[in-house]
Amino acid sequence: MDAANPVVELKQITKRFSGIVANDSISLKLHKGEIHALLGENGAGKSTLMNILFGLYQPDEGSIEIKGKPVNIDNPNKAIELGIGMVHQHFKLVQPFTVTENIILGMEPKQLGFHVDYKTATAKIKKLSDQYGLKVNPDSKISEISVGMQQRVEILKTLYRGADILIFDEPTAVLTPQEITELMSIMRRLVDEGKSIILITHKLKEIMHISDAVTIIRRGKVVDTLKTSETNPNTLAEKMVGRNVSFKIDKKPATPGEAILQVRDLKLKNKDGISVLNGLSLDVRAGEILGVAGVDGNGQSELIEALSGLRKVDSGSVKLKDMELTNRNPRFVSEQGVSHIPEDRHKHGLVLDFTMSENLILETYYKAPFNKGGFLNQLEIEKQAKKLIEAFDVRTPSIETKARSLSGGNQQKAIIAREIDKNPELLIAAQPTRGLDVGAIEFVQQQLISQRDQGKAVMLISFELDEIMNVADRIVVIYEGRIVGEVLPEQTNDQELGLMMSGSTAGGKRHE
Ligand SMILES: Nc1ncnc2c1ncn2[C@@H]1O[C@H](COP(=O)(O)OP(=O)(O)O)[C@@H](O)[C@H]1O
Ligand SMILES: [Mg+2]
Repeated sequence: MDAANPVVELKQITKRFSGIVANDSISLKLHKGEIHALLGENGAGKSTLMNILFGLYQPDEGSIEIKGKPVNIDNPNKAIELGIGMVHQHFKLVQPFTVTENIILGMEPKQLGFHVDYKTATAKIKKLSDQYGLKVNPDSKISEISVGMQQRVEILKTLYRGADILIFDEPTAVLTPQEITELMSIMRRLVDEGKSIILITHKLKEIMHISDAVTIIRRGKVVDTLKTSETNPNTLAEKMVGRNVSFKIDKKPATPGEAILQVRDLKLKNKDGISVLNGLSLDVRAGEILGVAGVDGNGQSELIEALSGLRKVDSGSVKLKDMELTNRNPRFVSEQGVSHIPEDRHKHGLVLDFTMSENLILETYYKAPFNKGGFLNQLEIEKQAKKLIEAFDVRTPSIETKARSLSGGNQQKAIIAREIDKNPELLIAAQPTRGLDVGAIEFVQQQLISQRDQGKAVMLISFELDEIMNVADRIVVIYEGRIVGEVLPEQTNDQELGLMMSGSTAGGKRHE
């Protein structure tokens, strides 16, 4: 590392959006050969800062130096010219095109001034992919390759354009554990070959594992810049959220009561005629959190949709206390006392182009006090929105802000606020902490526990074993559309659960 001459220097960058200061006088130095992590909660201002460096936004104040020279990066082409490449959170690839076509898109080499010279392009891509360990098949269509592969294409795209400063915006959020390990070694390889990397993440494990330095930002301001070797996860978490974070969840033992939800022998075939629910039965009792553990794709989504009225089953029954809920519609189910924190918060949780206040009454707008004689009562709606935003610490510039412009963590808090405020008998939480940072995760998990402590039945569906083990009072394992085992968190371990999740019924009793 060359301490004297940073390759990137951001000097007191300030960026305002209507109502908020997304970046407040942020300074940051990236050195050659360094992996510099940018850590912060959802909404802290990380993407904004990097979008400024990549020329997508203009700062309101501050300046940028690249390799010692002041620059004005007024568009992404300028950034690319300066050797900056960005791998975005959401990939920007053209699905029907091949890997090669995507990599060279917009800068196709010309032969005789007319035709694209694919041979030269392919050779160059091959060389880059060998050099950095970025294995891809250049002829595959994007639509046919895994998310991990698509990310490699994005990386190759930046390298093909000559980037030596790479920005990764939350690159591991979409990857499996194995793909994460591979990405980490690719990043190492990149810096070993002289590249410099800014890595946006809120995952402390990754920062400790891969970064050389870390800059923590909170609510748009730099909290600290530290050498990774001189810090630890606790310190980082505390600086990120501004208070002490306990990784261990505090909860008293459950005192379960009667069965609130009774699911019996649910069967469901999907549109291709494949059985996705195969006689699934389970109970959730008052005052307990039932964890449903399992590998993605074993019927979890279909189960949640069946329970919340979004999908009809072929046979079996769903009962909430004495009320038959089988194949009833979502509004009916909701009115009987079922709240649902959906797996896909953009599809089922929020209407992104609605304001926060509209989203917070999404399921109750037709009822008093929000609706009187067919007219919406704006005053009551605003009162409700303000109450929930305050109580659940949803960070939004105003209640009129569109849901779309809020960070994922704040969108999730808004959904939870709305669902809990309905005072349900049963709360179904599907992957409720996916993509959230530690502060938000702690908040969400505590909300589930507090619902349980108020005597509610809570069902937690999660792919994260840690989460199931820490939060649930009782665990069932779902495999190929049925429950294959039941265990108590204090009497099991990851290995036993892992075995059940892979279809072996070793350990645990079968739930009838
Ligand atoms: N284009 C935009 N218009 C208005 N507000 C925005 C825009 N982009 C980001 N914000 C706001 O700026 C803040 C920082 O957002 P962002 O940089 O995306 O955070 P992070 O990447 O750390 O999660 C958030 O409050 C977000 O709602
Ligand atoms: Mg971001």
